[in-house]
Amino acid sequence: MNETFYITTPIYYASGSPHIGHVYTSICCDILARWNRQILGNKSVFFQTGTDEHGQKIVEKAKEANLEILEFVNNKSNQFLKMTKDFEITNNNFLRTTNPEHKKLVQKYLQIAFDKGDIYLGEYKGYYCVGCERYFEEKDLDENKCCLIHKKKCEKKCEKNYFFFLSKYENQLLDFYKKNPDFISPKNKQDEIINRVKEGLRDISISRNKTDLNWGIEIPFDKTHITYVWFDALFNYLTGLEINKKEEFWPANIHIVGHDISWFHLVYWPIFLMSVNKELPKKVYSHGMILDKDGHKMSKSLNNAINPYEQIEKYGLDEFKYCLISTSPMGEDLKYNEEQVIKKINNELNNDLGNLISRVHTMIHNYFNGVIPQINLVGDYEKEFISEFDNFFEKYNKHIQNFELYKAINLVFEKVRYLNAYINKVEPWKQKDKQKLSSNINLLASAIKFLIFYLKPFMPNKVKLIEKQFRFQPF
Ligand code: MSP
Repeated sequence: MNETFYITTPIYYASGSPHIGHVYTSICCDILARWNRQILGNKSVFFQTGTDEHGQKIVEKAKEANLEILEFVNNKSNQFLKMTKDFEITNNNFLRTTNPEHKKLVQKYLQIAFDKGDIYLGEYKGYYCVGCERYFEEKDLDENKCCLIHKKKCEKKCEKNYFFFLSKYENQLLDFYKKNPDFISPKNKQDEIINRVKEGLRDISISRNKTDLNWGIEIPFDKTHITYVWFDALFNYLTGLEINKKEEFWPANIHIVGHDISWFHLVYWPIFLMSVNKELPKKVYSHGMILDKDGHKMSKSLNNAINPYEQIEKYGLDEFKYCLISTSPMGEDLKYNEEQVIKKINNELNNDLGNLISRVHTMIHNYFNGVIPQINLVGDYEKEFISEFDNFFEKYNKHIQNFELYKAINLVFEKVRYLNAYINKVEPWKQKDKQKLSSNINLLASAIKFLIFYLKPFMPNKVKLIEKQFRFQPF
């Protein structure tokens, strides 16, 4: 098989409804998947998303909602599936961790790790945060024993759990980071992670006794325990391929995750894979958080999340995506500010892009009866115009390969503004020489045709309209 591209979103907790953070992660991945399909071909790309459906938080939420757990997760998972449709996410697979095939495969991997001596029965004493689905030490909590993320009191627990021997792999992991300097991305996250690993890894609990929690995957070597959350969830990236007979896509090119869950992907996941003798993914990219106007992370629990459905209703899907992506680097936090959204739509989409399209379209109609004229003349003026687009593919593609989506889309809009300035400069409406006029208009129409190829991963609907308007053959 030729070059392949496998990209994943995290699987979303089926404990709440989709919010702007989930939509953001999915949109970033979608743009990357769409671009790679354009350059590698549809069959060379596999894009997976899904839902994470086990664990204590889900049991509690189902109880609150007065529903059977399975009914509850079916509901929630369907909402995420609907989100992928409503936001036109082009995933090839939607994996649910309650899928029996996924469960069987997780059991297979548990057994491999156990046989290797990487899983052992131990005693856990600590504070459990249901929100994070993990244990904390007392020193990690505030004075009221609340976790710093969810601000909720953690339960003190002492129980027999199966542990994963994370500490055994510390040096192997550090060695892997050294040999694969692109694995932790963006680069400014590397020191933090490497230093934390160097401070020492503690083994982690990966099971609960069924009497405590009975909503997870049964441990194959001890039927009184279940595994849930991280050992279950992380393996989705592999089981999704195995279930669909797409193993040739492994190792993943890129796991995109929010930086709140990067530790699990940069430390637990590579170690689990080492343990079960699988190749490691090529890269984990941690994107920033969407913040409210005051700089707080948008989340269900803080009740400050913007409803993405309302946004697409008000502004349109392509417009919403454009505003989310073009404002700041993917690796940094982004303050979502509706006033800025309105400004961007007016200035960049309506004035710059909209104007360009309508001006060129009108001139083709007024001067050439709606048929794009031939180019008859290539003088210095035209050469200068053409050279403006030199190495465009290389520049754009490099930005995308570096996950600088905002730079890629801004490069397109830089050219949109150049074309508007070109029209102002040559003033085709004053042109008496028909040959020169034909060349001007041909160049402009060709430049639009050229640019929409690059606009398409970001704004496929806008591109469809432009193709129709100019009667361009869709590519
Ligand atoms: N189920 C785990 C992931 C398991 S992956 C093997 C999980 N789920 S989640 O639903 O809580 O979060 C999923 C993704 O949404 C994470 O990448 C998280 O960073 C992202 N976001 C949640 N809130 C966010 C913002 N406010 N802004 C941007 N992304 C955020 O974690």
